[in-house]
Amino acid sequence: MRDKWSSKVGFILAAAGSAVGLGNIWKFPYSVGTNGGGAFVALYFIFLIFIGVPLMLAAITLGRKTQLSVFGAYKSINKKWSFVGGLGVICGFFILAFYSTVGGWVIYYLKNALLGTLNTTNPDLLGKTFENLLNSPIELISYQFIFLLFTMLIVLKGISGGIEKASKIMMPALFIMLIVIAFKSVTLKGSMEGIKFLLTPDFSKINMQVAMNALGQVFFSLSIGMGVMVTYGSYLGKKDNILNTAILIPVIDTAIALIAGFATIPAVFALGFKVTEGPGLMFVTLPAVFASMPMGHIFCIVFFLLVLFAALTSSISMLEVCVSYFVDERNKKRKTSTVIITLLIFIMGIPASLSMGVWKNLDLIGGLNFFDLYDKLTTNILLTTGGFLLCIFVGWVLKAENAVKEIEISGNKFRLAPVWSFLIKYVVPAAVFIILINSYKEFILLII
Ligand code: PHE
Repeated sequence: MRDKWSSKVGFILAAAGSAVGLGNIWKFPYSVGTNGGGAFVALYFIFLIFIGVPLMLAAITLGRKTQLSVFGAYKSINKKWSFVGGLGVICGFFILAFYSTVGGWVIYYLKNALLGTLNTTNPDLLGKTFENLLNSPIELISYQFIFLLFTMLIVLKGISGGIEKASKIMMPALFIMLIVIAFKSVTLKGSMEGIKFLLTPDFSKINMQVAMNALGQVFFSLSIGMGVMVTYGSYLGKKDNILNTAILIPVIDTAIALIAGFATIPAVFALGFKVTEGPGLMFVTLPAVFASMPMGHIFCIVFFLLVLFAALTSSISMLEVCVSYFVDERNKKRKTSTVIITLLIFIMGIPASLSMGVWKNLDLIGGLNFFDLYDKLTTNILLTTGGFLLCIFVGWVLKAENAVKEIEISGNKFRLAPVWSFLIKYVVPAAVFIILINSYKEFILLII
């Protein structure tokens, strides 16, 4: 017998834990900033509702039907499709390689919050702090290593247990914390400009680039396209209602991303930061918001601690996909696989950590550094390809009718089944395909 979640709540916590992470708190706000604001947010919502949610349901259904982690899930239905699982493993490797860089930054900021050195609203000073970090190879690599070490230790302990319990406190705490920060941020003098930037879509800003990034962000944020949700869904029992879960996770995930947007962007405008700052946006802006709050010092510590926790519940899901492949499909030992894979990811991650500092002038492919390369390769190419193959597989190979049967096994009527089937068979593949073709085109043009 395979393990089952100790409760339905356990699954929801783990899946939501995977979805909610740096993607929401760190990536969403800066992507909004670099992709023109409200137009990106609007596109994000459209893709979320018509592509993200239907695919979330498809992924969980595939997992529960086969009761296998992603590689086996595809293989058990059609041998030829097992490569999709393999794609997920590669994707997990590369995401974790740069995710751990940012995880390391979070640990560094947590340390500085504890030391009280972030207590300023001065954009120049905060910019310097971040810049200094980027230029300290030893620190960067050490913190990245610590982040991966935490991830590895949790994965070594199996799926349920401590993390599930801790999530029950940490997730709501993160939610409340973000609401408080957002409240502070939108009430700062001069924040109106930022609120407008977030909420008023300037549709002339929408182009293929923005569409690629918005769709990639949906996949990244929901953890779909590399098999996490298939694998997690495989631990669900036949009595569990997967319909409400497939809606609940995106709702929680999006709420957190939006609130993080409101916590960051208005403050960027009010306090004189640059909205197009890129990956450093959260790290330079939020300490300034804390510094302008009573007891901000404490807030700062708690915040980075909660972000670290959220990042870990996501990173363990990536590592889990990689490990379960070697354990289930290659009959390798769980312990050894976990340690070796983590080490490999660490080695691959080092260039990502160095690429914005000492290796800044090392233009790799088409002017991208390692960090951007890993990010583009996973978010815009691998996850999107995985999402495309998932809908073709569930819609046409497993067949939408069979998927609907699986969804209804638990005794719940799926009223929107015809709509979902139509989306999964036609709309999602067509829309994702158009964007994907452009992502490939862009990527190939960069390389040559
Ligand atoms: N969804 C996670 C986040 O938002 C990142 C992630 C992507 C996790 C893909 C697993 C798989 O931080």
